[in-house]
Amino acid sequence: MSGDARCIGVFDSGIGGLTVVRELRRRLPGENIVYFGDTARVPYGIKTSETVTRFARQNCEFLLRFDPKLIVVACNTASATALPELEAMLPVPVCGVVLPGAKEATLQSEGGTIAVIATEATIASDAYRRAIKQYDEHARVIQKPCPLLVPIAEEGRTCTDPIVLSVVRDYLDPIVRLDPKILVLGCTHYPLLRDAIAEVAGEGIRLVDSGEQTAKAVVERLRAGGKLSDRAEAGSLVSYVSDNPQRFRELGQRFLDHSVVDVTWVSPEQFYAQDFAQAR
Ligand code: DGL
Repeated sequence: MSGDARCIGVFDSGIGGLTVVRELRRRLPGENIVYFGDTARVPYGIKTSETVTRFARQNCEFLLRFDPKLIVVACNTASATALPELEAMLPVPVCGVVLPGAKEATLQSEGGTIAVIATEATIASDAYRRAIKQYDEHARVIQKPCPLLVPIAEEGRTCTDPIVLSVVRDYLDPIVRLDPKILVLGCTHYPLLRDAIAEVAGEGIRLVDSGEQTAKAVVERLRAGGKLSDRAEAGSLVSYVSDNPQRFRELGQRFLDHSVVDVTWVSPEQFYAQDFAQAR
């Protein structure tokens, strides 16, 4: 085998990163993926950048035990606050979700205003604005935290639910009035509410999903480095969570668009143990 058969490591604050895994598996069906969902410490979106960075570092140390060829920081909040530190410390390439989302938004904006919705911590970090300015220093960026959308997405309400539409309207109406061309879905959970967001945004605003753009960026990066697997059969998805594997299994189906089968709870002792992957 000439390809790189090692896994892709992915982590998120909890279950939301499965939306990124879904996009990865669509494009890279032969890759093995090891996912860590930090369900014991979720949500990250209301925490300080120091705390999120510490958690992100520990999550990466856990994933490194599986010898990944690349780590995807599927969590927007962790990407927004911790990416430079992770890039500096990790011995493998790391791909966050902010830059790919910002790049695509800038490409599609044709000079129009770019709106970003995300968690409080992501917006407070200003990471999306900085990333967009990297691609177009004159870009006009509006940012808005939408914290209620995370629990609403996890609760499994549909996009036609009046409560969902009312909350989405409350967040988006002030943005829509500013007539943006692009709306970036800067949180792992928002793709589940895409239809409600699209309805409220209206036809003139294009939605950019950071998770989808990240999956494309991962494909490009692995291809450029000659690290794509040439496995003919379907790759595996093995998930680890720091709490409540049962809830992860039940909710996972909607986020992944596929049943989540292989989920293991990691105790705090195992999380910090050096030999966890080998012991499994
Ligand atoms: N995964 C987080 C993000 O994409 C949302 C959930 C949380 O607040 O931890 O920002």
